[in-house]
Amino acid sequence: MSSTLKAVRGTRDLLPPETALWNRIEATARSVFARYNLGEIRTPVFEDTALFARGVGQETDIVSKEMYTWEDRARAQSEKPQSLTLRPENTAGVVRAYIEHKLGETGQLQKLYYIGPQFRRERPQKGRYRQFSQIGAEVIGPPTAGSESPLRDAEVLEMLATLLDELGITGWTLEINSVGSAADRARYNDVLREALVPIAPKMCIDCQRRAVTNPLRVLDCKVPEDQPLIDALPKIVDSLDDASKAHFASVLAALDAASVPYTRNHRLVRGLDYYTRTTFEFTHGGLGAQNALLGGGRYDGLSEAIGGPKAPGIGFAMGEDRLVLTIQAQEKLAPPQVAQVDAYIAPLGDTKDEAALTRINAAALALARELRRAGLSIELGDGSFRLKKSFENADKVARRIVILGEDELQSGILTVKDFASGTQTKVPRAELAAHLAQPLSA
Ligand code: HAM
Repeated sequence: MSSTLKAVRGTRDLLPPETALWNRIEATARSVFARYNLGEIRTPVFEDTALFARGVGQETDIVSKEMYTWEDRARAQSEKPQSLTLRPENTAGVVRAYIEHKLGETGQLQKLYYIGPQFRRERPQKGRYRQFSQIGAEVIGPPTAGSESPLRDAEVLEMLATLLDELGITGWTLEINSVGSAADRARYNDVLREALVPIAPKMCIDCQRRAVTNPLRVLDCKVPEDQPLIDALPKIVDSLDDASKAHFASVLAALDAASVPYTRNHRLVRGLDYYTRTTFEFTHGGLGAQNALLGGGRYDGLSEAIGGPKAPGIGFAMGEDRLVLTIQAQEKLAPPQVAQVDAYIAPLGDTKDEAALTRINAAALALARELRRAGLSIELGDGSFRLKKSFENADKVARRIVILGEDELQSGILTVKDFASGTQTKVPRAELAAHLAQPLSA
């Protein structure tokens, strides 16, 4: 016997009823985004590898260790082989599309959202997968469209607070920081490098290496013994120039005015190279080690880094898998009503009479079609089931059962039982749709 094939490590099948929750999250996100005048963008799931190397940064974990990259063979003499990569994130792709379609030439701010899979070769664990889904948005445009304004940062953060509230996610924390301009960051890197010289030998092996190669990454260290040393390091806010300081102060003032609560996190520098000024994460205690529900920030130089015009922007991506985990954990505490269909149609006939069964099943299908076209959700039973089995099946999935036997077929009067109240009613077929559309009596 050949071995059974399974989904690849770090990838998952999503099945009903869980997929209903995914759809609910996506519908809520789309509804909130529409109110903020965002439009949907769909970019390819794979791109030229150079986009991520130049956009996200060659030295980042994502680009150096986690990408699914392959050499795409040439299929004709005229074609060249090309290095392609499954997108590990979508900001670089959206900015590529912004440049390619000259969206900046409209002079308007582009407010674009996306929902879709991303791919990173990470060590799988709860909340961390190799294929995962992000719901994200980017607000980008020429400076003349107001793309650099701190109001845009605050509006994006306020929208996220609204979206999480509408998803019913409680207990989130908005952590916020500013990483300044590229020049500010270079200055801070030097300050950190200097400050790390005397203490690096007391730190973990990774930090000893980072202290030399990329001091900023020391701030991401999770080793408990290193934490007091890291907390005592100089803070990036002290390396910001006046313009970056003023920008950050305006973002915080607008958040205060909109009553969006936040916590300053001086260590939030984020793992992608394109960030400038505002960076943020929304975390949730219920998620365990992978506690970031979403992350984002400003990327004022990204467009130029990949060959485009000046186009400052700000955006975020939510880990949809993590939204699902958080909502599921909350719903365990307060389970929602199980979604049930409006009615189960139970065709009942003489199980030994093939011809009669065929007739009654066909009539049941016609009735189901009629009711579904009237907007009702219907589960269709099978005439070969006995009465008891039909009731058991119906009780699991539907609010009511509609019995369709020879008598009902002849008389045009159907028997409807409402499971919640236990009441049984005779309903003429012409009134059935209206009857089933009524709210339940109990
Ligand atoms: P990121 O922090 O790399 O940022 O990812 C954003 C979110 O995606 C994370 O907070 C997390 O919820 C989710 N996520 C990341 N990796 C995984 C994984 N392996 N499994 C499950 N969920 C994951 C970005 O991707 C930026 N493009 C965000 C952004 C948009 N910045 C500006 N605009």
